[in-house]
Amino acid sequence: MKKGLSILLAAAMTLSLAACGGSTETANTTAAGGDTTTAAADASEGADAGTATGEGKTIGVAMPTQSSERWINDGANIKEQLEAKGYKVELQYAEDDVQMQVSQIENLIASGVDCLVVASIDSTALVNTLASAKEKGIPVIAYDRLLMDTDAVSYYATFDNKGVGTAIAKYIEEKKDLKTAQANGESYTIEFFMGSPDDNNALFLYQGIMEVLQPYLDDGTLVCKTGRTSFEDTCILRWSQETAQQWCENYLSGFYADEKLDIACTAFDGFAYGVRSALEGAGYQVGVDWPLVTGQDAELMAVKNIISGHQTMSIYKDTRELAAKCVTMVQAVLEGAEPEINDTEQYNNGKLVVPSYLCTPVAVDTDNYMELIVDGGYYTKEELGVQ
Ligand code: BGC
Repeated sequence: MKKGLSILLAAAMTLSLAACGGSTETANTTAAGGDTTTAAADASEGADAGTATGEGKTIGVAMPTQSSERWINDGANIKEQLEAKGYKVELQYAEDDVQMQVSQIENLIASGVDCLVVASIDSTALVNTLASAKEKGIPVIAYDRLLMDTDAVSYYATFDNKGVGTAIAKYIEEKKDLKTAQANGESYTIEFFMGSPDDNNALFLYQGIMEVLQPYLDDGTLVCKTGRTSFEDTCILRWSQETAQQWCENYLSGFYADEKLDIACTAFDGFAYGVRSALEGAGYQVGVDWPLVTGQDAELMAVKNIISGHQTMSIYKDTRELAAKCVTMVQAVLEGAEPEINDTEQYNNGKLVVPSYLCTPVAVDTDNYMELIVDGGYYTKEELGVQ
């Protein structure tokens, strides 16, 4: 590991540890609570409506944290959809504490669960724990985040993580009309806030972003004043909102204070919230000089921020669909059913290429949130506070 990266990680870790106790405060935990019913209904349609096949079987579900709304929705959706199939569900959240997640999974194994669904915190930290699941004949499904360096994982349900990155970058390319800017020799300033280095998704996302934006960085159409464009320099441990805010504050108040920021390319709605606070603190105003701010997950707060102009876009990931795919994988390992797989190449975890289903991420902004999010039953107009 590069020295710069270790310093960065240490700093990020300190910040994220410091923020630990208060992390639930910054999260929006109210969203989509009312949508799980819809989710369960949708899922039943997608996976053998009405057949309760899981009687007598218990599924252990290990989720990373409740500090971001996304995982609360995921947990609720999986639980409802599995219960609709007759399974019992033990749902655990580890609040981004790696050791806590290890203990939780160990306890689930000891309690005799029939199958494990794991969205990891640190994707390489569960190798021994998962080996013991395998020894006991408990199949494991990787949920959203790939489980690395283990042969104990049977299937992987996720979104197209590189596709998330390209969708974010193409949005920037289109909205800022980078091709025209390039032809005219114009430029925009941009800063990057990328995901956690212990989350395999984060690197895929970064690669997707750079596949589109690198040429514009190379020819100066996009100017990154801090020079931080590599994954090592822009990754934020444990997806910490506080660290993203701190970085943005440092940019806006420090050496580059006189350079207006045109684009905050962030990989997560939580980062976009941090960036919003920093921008407000520095006096940026929506409709005047507010930059293009990207995000990921289409959390309720993010969609509200999109409507108010404090965030420009997010990536809509329908967690109901992901949960439904995961349920088919659980059924496959426990009942010999065939799960739908659409990728057998991309997700090599160091031990095997894990058969995967990649759901499609979609960019959402003011133009399409009504159709995608409201008509799609993800959030109601009331939840969003719109007519
Ligand atoms: C997920 C993203 C999420 C991020 C932070 C990633 O693994 O794929 O949807 O924004 O974790 O929670």
